[in-house]
This record gives sequence, C-alpha cells and structure tokens, in this order.
Amino acid sequence: MSSEGSFSRVGVVGLGTMGAGIAEVLARGGLAVVGVEVNREALERGRGHLERSTGRAVKRGRLTADAQREILDRVALTTDFADLGDCDLVIEAVPERLDLKRKVFAELDKVCREDAVLATNTSSLSVTDIAVTTGRPSKIVGVHFFNPAPVMKLVEVIATVLTEPDAVARVAALVRGLGKTPVTIGDRAGFVANRLLFGYLNQAAGMLESGHATRDDIDTAMTAGAGLPMGPFTLMDLIGLDTCLEVLEAIYAESRDRRHAASPVLRELVTAGLLGRKTGRGFYSYEKAGSDASGSGAAAAEEPPVVGIVGVGPLADALAALCDRAGASVRDSAADLAGCDLVIEAAEDTEAARALLSAAAQAAKPDAVLAVTSVGGSVIEQAMATGRPADVVGVHLPDPAGTLAEIAATVATGPGVADRAAGLLGRLGLTAVRCRDRAGFIVDALRFPYLNDAAAMLGAGYADADSIDAAMTLGCGYPTGPIADLDRLGLDRAVTVLRALHAETREPALAPVPLLVEHVTAGSPLR
Ligand code: CAA
Repeated sequence: MSSEGSFSRVGVVGLGTMGAGIAEVLARGGLAVVGVEVNREALERGRGHLERSTGRAVKRGRLTADAQREILDRVALTTDFADLGDCDLVIEAVPERLDLKRKVFAELDKVCREDAVLATNTSSLSVTDIAVTTGRPSKIVGVHFFNPAPVMKLVEVIATVLTEPDAVARVAALVRGLGKTPVTIGDRAGFVANRLLFGYLNQAAGMLESGHATRDDIDTAMTAGAGLPMGPFTLMDLIGLDTCLEVLEAIYAESRDRRHAASPVLRELVTAGLLGRKTGRGFYSYEKAGSDASGSGAAAAEEPPVVGIVGVGPLADALAALCDRAGASVRDSAADLAGCDLVIEAAEDTEAARALLSAAAQAAKPDAVLAVTSVGGSVIEQAMATGRPADVVGVHLPDPAGTLAEIAATVATGPGVADRAAGLLGRLGLTAVRCRDRAGFIVDALRFPYLNDAAAMLGAGYADADSIDAAMTLGCGYPTGPIADLDRLGLDRAVTVLRALHAETREPALAPVPLLVEHVTAGSPLR
C-alpha cells in the first residue's frame, strides 16, 4: 500500500482548542474521525469548538451549510476509548502533563489495533518519554499542529530514535494529503518552530519586564516594523500563557540557555490564572470584543514639519524620499537648519555623525528636536557630543522603506522631547514607538537574536534551510523565513547588530554564530 491515504479512520483524544482544531482538519480532509473526551461535559465543549469554528467559515462564505453538516457528521464523539478500536491512527491532544499523556497512551495501547500508529500533539514534552512506556515504541510519532490548527499550514512530524521510518512516512503523507506541509524533525525540545519562536517571545516579555518599552509599542514594532502577523504579546495570549510557560520550561531544561528561562511576568500571569484569550485576560484584556490593543498609531494629519537631514548615503536618501511623500520641506545645508522643527542625522559612520551633529546643534533653533540615527555606539554618546543632549533622541527606521519609526529617549532627553519627536515623525506618516537607549531599539534587538538562533540551527545541522524557513512562514505566519531574512537584511548587518547586543549584555548566545561570521568573511549568502 502506498503511504498516501493509508489512514482512513483517525482518532483524536482530547477536544480542547488544539484537539478540536485537529479533528476539524481531519474531517475537512474527508477522513472518518473518532473524537474522545473524558466526560460528557468536556465532549459537549469539544462539539461547541467544532461547531463554532466551522460555523465561522460558513458565515464568511468559505463553507456551505451542507458541507459543514458533512464535516460534523464525519466526527463521531464518544467518551469510550474502546471506540478507537478500528482507527489506524490516533492523535492525542490532552493537556501537557507527562503522567496524563502516559495514562492515555497506556489506554490506547490496550484498545488500538496492533498496527495502529499512535501520535502525540505535544509541544513541550519528549515524544521518546511517551514512547518508551508503551508496548509499541516503533509506532509512536509526534504530530505537532500550530494554533489555530485549521489555518496554520505547518505540521512538525517528530520521529524518535525508536520510530519506524514507515510510520513517519505515512503520517507525513497524511499531513500532505490534508493540504498542510510536514517538516520531519528529531525529538528535541521545541522542535524547529517553537525553538525559534519562544526565545523571541520570552525576550519580548523580558523587555516589558525591564521597562525597555511598553506592551503596545513592542507589539506595534513587530507588526509594523518586522511585518509579523501578530505582536509577541498578542501571540502569547493566543497560544495561552500556561502553554508558553510549559514550552519555555521544556526548552530551558534542554538548552540551559537563560534566554529560555521564563520571564517573571509570564509566571506571574499564569499563577494569577490570567492565561490569555481562553480566560478573557492575559497580557491584554478580552472582556470587550477583541483585544484592547491600542498601539501608538500615526498622528492625525497636520502640517508636515520642516525637516533638516544632515549626512549623505542611503538612509539620508530614504529620509528625503519619505519627507517628499509627506509633503514636508527638507533642508540639507547647515545654513538652513535654523528653520527646522526636526533635524535628523543620517551619516554613514559614527565619526561623521558626531561632527555633523555638533554643527547641527549649533545651527538648529532652540526648540528643534535633534534625532540621532546612531550608526554604531549608543544614542547617549552622540547626544553628549552635541552639547545639548536634552534635545536629542535616537531614531531608528528598521525598514527605511516602511512606516515604523522607533524613538529612544536617553536619560538626558528633556521632558516632552520624545513626545514631540513622535508627533513630528507622525506628521511624516510614520508610526512611532518608544523605547530606552539600548542596542537594537526594539525590532533589531528582537529579530537578530532569533535570526542568530536560526543560523545556529542551520550550522549545527539541526534542520535544513527549507525546513527552518517553512517552520516560521507556515507555522507562525511570518512573511519570510529566517534564513531568507538573513540574506535579505544582510549578513554583515546581522553580525554588526549582534556584536552590539553582545557588547551591551555580554549574553553569550547573542554573539554572532560562526556560520554567520564565516559567510560575511567569504562574502557569500547563506543559500
Ligand atoms: N479557527 C479557525 N479559523 C480561524 C481562526 C481560528 N481560531 N482564526 C482565524 N481563522 C481564519 C479565519 O476564518 C480567516 O479565514 P478566511 O479568510 O477563510 O475567512 C483566516 O483565518 C484569517 O483570519 P482573520 O482575518 O480573522 O485574522 P488575521 O488575518 O489576523 O489572521 C491569524 C489570524 C491566521 C491567526 C494570523 O494572525 C496569524 O497567522 N498569526 C500567527 C499565529 C501563530 O504564530 N501561530 C503559531 C503559534 S505557536 C503554536 O501554536 C505552537 C505551540 O506549540 C504553542
């Protein structure tokens, strides 16, 4: 028999958010599904999940009412494990407790056919730990779906050292048949996607914890500045903060990298029972419809400011183009700076920036805001060199062609100056977010460590470039994968930002990995 279509009746144990989503995906794929829950009440909740999710598709005109009925009819709901007796595959999706999962697998071992493949949807436990307590370790695989399961296209298929290759191939073929993309990986904590995602999510929580930036500014920065579908706090609330904590603890237990040690704010929210969307409150409150995310937003349309741009190079050109689009008049000679509301330094190196800033500081009017783009070094170093540090903020455009501006106020920035800078940049059509004067502002400080982790994975042969990129694009909705991002953003830029982050924090994992440095020296892209 070919692997394709080799499963026709599939069981799903546990019909919470993930289990119900998986059951829906299987039933939509035309398979007969047996959904099992512990009691009638849980079973009815599972039925509710299935009806709501497919009902939403009907409402949006993506599914006819008849098709919805057919999908729901394909799912037989039961509280009796014995009903799984004729399934060729059973997927377990119960809460992430090893004792509970082992109990479920012991039961499955008893009731399922000897040749049935048993799969776990665990995101944080070791599949091997589950497999060794069964009488059929060669038939145990991991199938890791992403939330929301009906939407996300990635499924990680986990093979332990005990799994027989045929079971893995059959599960991967099933996943493909369901219109999703399987990525096969060994049994390592976090597999591919979570291993990369959670270091970043935890770092975002740490940024909030340390007062580097606000929840809304961090979320806005990552959506508007890095093109992600959701900011880290919105995403953690979607995943569930209890799940986030479990995943981080599992990854930390294996990596012993303190960046995976869960941020106290996460633990505090979990202890308080504030688990995200599913409980109505996490980082955000969902009591009213939707999230209460407000974001910083662009300022309302006002007269465009008069902008001085000092320096030459690609950033100066991009800023001039931006001002042009906003209808702002631009001055670029020292003699004209006196009339400017905002003077932006856009030099290509730190020395040139210092000289230009000193001259600009003398020429600019007393209430002008001086913006340092801080190529190398910190904003405060540049601000001190101007002789009027109270008027200076750092400004960073993570994507000079994009719409996000990050503003860093230093300890010397005067009261109200960062607000004025945000207002002026808003009048140029930019969305402004604030942070403290730390390397990488928000976007680069979060994205380059994640990209470094991806390069480390590639360098170690943990996964190949296609799998790594697929994990993040198909599993987490990123517009592009990290290996492609590194080549697009520039490996030399990655190494420069990582060195600055490492110099500031002395965090060993922030030093650029050898593969990146090697490619920069060779002048070759990763792919
Ligand atoms: N169930 C079913 N369908 C859903 C859904 C849900 N919970 N949420 C959204 N959808 C569907 C909608 O019906 C819509 O489909 P149609 O266009 O066919 O109508 C589509 O998804 C887009 O939804 P929206 O327009 O409402 O919202 P959006 O454009 O903002 O997209 C999103 C929502 C798909 C969730 C997107 O924001 C996204 O990709 N976010 C990132 C999610 C992510 O990273 N997931 C992985 C988390 S990690 C994990 O799960 C692993 C783990 O082990 C913890």
